[in-house]
Amino acid sequence: MTTPPVDDPDVLVDVRGVKVHFPIKAGVIFDRVIGHVYAVDGVDLQIRRGETYGLVGESGCGKSTLGRAILNLEPPTEGHVVFDGTDIASLKGEELRRKRQDIQMVFQDPLSSLDPRQSVESLLVEGMKAHGLAKDAKEARPRLRELLTAVGLPVQALSKYPHEFSGGQRQRIGIARALSVNPKLIVADEPVSALDVSVQAQVINLLEDLQEQYGLTYLVVAHDLAVVRHISDRIGVMYLGAIAEEAAAVDLYARPLHPYTRALLSAVPIPDPDVEDSREQILLTGDLPSPSNPPTGCRFHTRCPWRQDTRCDDERPQLRVVAIDGVPEGHRVACHWAEQIDSGELRPHEVTPVAVGSDELPPAAVEPELMGPASVTEAL
Ligand SMILES: Nc1ncnc2c1ncn2[C@@H]1O[C@H](COP(=O)(O)OP(=O)(O)OP(=O)(O)O)[C@@H](O)[C@H]1O
Ligand code: SF4
Ligand SMILES: [Mg+2]
Repeated sequence: MTTPPVDDPDVLVDVRGVKVHFPIKAGVIFDRVIGHVYAVDGVDLQIRRGETYGLVGESGCGKSTLGRAILNLEPPTEGHVVFDGTDIASLKGEELRRKRQDIQMVFQDPLSSLDPRQSVESLLVEGMKAHGLAKDAKEARPRLRELLTAVGLPVQALSKYPHEFSGGQRQRIGIARALSVNPKLIVADEPVSALDVSVQAQVINLLEDLQEQYGLTYLVVAHDLAVVRHISDRIGVMYLGAIAEEAAAVDLYARPLHPYTRALLSAVPIPDPDVEDSREQILLTGDLPSPSNPPTGCRFHTRCPWRQDTRCDDERPQLRVVAIDGVPEGHRVACHWAEQIDSGELRPHEVTPVAVGSDELPPAAVEPELMGPASVTEAL
């Protein structure tokens, strides 16, 4: 059942019970549906005006599909996306097109998202013309200069073509293009994954500066917790189509409660060798199960070192507020045993690999003796 939309003017994006299931078809003459890819399978999340929501998870867990569902590029199979008070699914044609002006995307690979035959000027003017913000390049020029300055590129860039720029500069063009139509929300899908590490921080800093300058709201998608750490106000950790844990960034890093988040955080390297040696290490066993054949019960049970018979296998945990001292209400976890895991009452055990939608799984990689209390807490 979908929870009703929140009536809070501070919420810009309200995602309610969203599912996006892709049919798997077979047959030459009749297109028979033989199954579904449960790419997004019941997501609730709210993004407040002016905040940055970081969405993190392994490849294939449904991050991009959720981002596309927010723009209605992938209409939800179930559930609703309410943007700025309007249910996106209720909009058609011109109305939807106008609303899309408010939501822009920045993509991972700027080279493939920028038409190589168009000059930067033409790329930037395109959206402005489409949304009636400028008749032609001449009229748009003062705005284009402002945009280029805002993203740290020289005005001469206007006459150049995408291939003449470095990866970081191209991403700046992609960001300028998103900004050109004055959006309220930017969905940045892996905005720095294709860039050199040295350039990643510059682009992240740029996004932060622009947010302040233009009052933007961001959904930043990444597979790496390190990338979203500094930019995000809140973070949602996604696993197989659902949110496993959601919290203010500072709370998530200080006290990860879901076993999956603990595993992800334990993989983030820490420059201090003493801290690195003493902290919790959780190596995830096996690949992400196939979203066309997700495990029953808790989606994470096939890889979870804390899995308990039989509730974890049978009952799907809901994202819930936990009864742990010092953990705020906004820190929600989809785990039946979050309290017992946090207190140490439940200890991790070896994981026997279960072949779920994966042909080959590596041997168990959890080393219980390495696991102490959540020492990752201090480490981060
Ligand atoms: N149009 C589509 N038709 C069928 N399956 C799809 C479609 N788009 C995505 N999928 C599948 O849905 C699942 C989620 O894909 P999605 O691209 O949202 O993941 P992701 O978390 O963004 O991954 P990545 O980090 O690799 O970008 C994957 O199994 C993918 O193969
Ligand atoms: S519900 Fe069970 S399997 Fe799922 S994360 Fe919690 S302990 Fe692990
Ligand atoms: Mg993706």
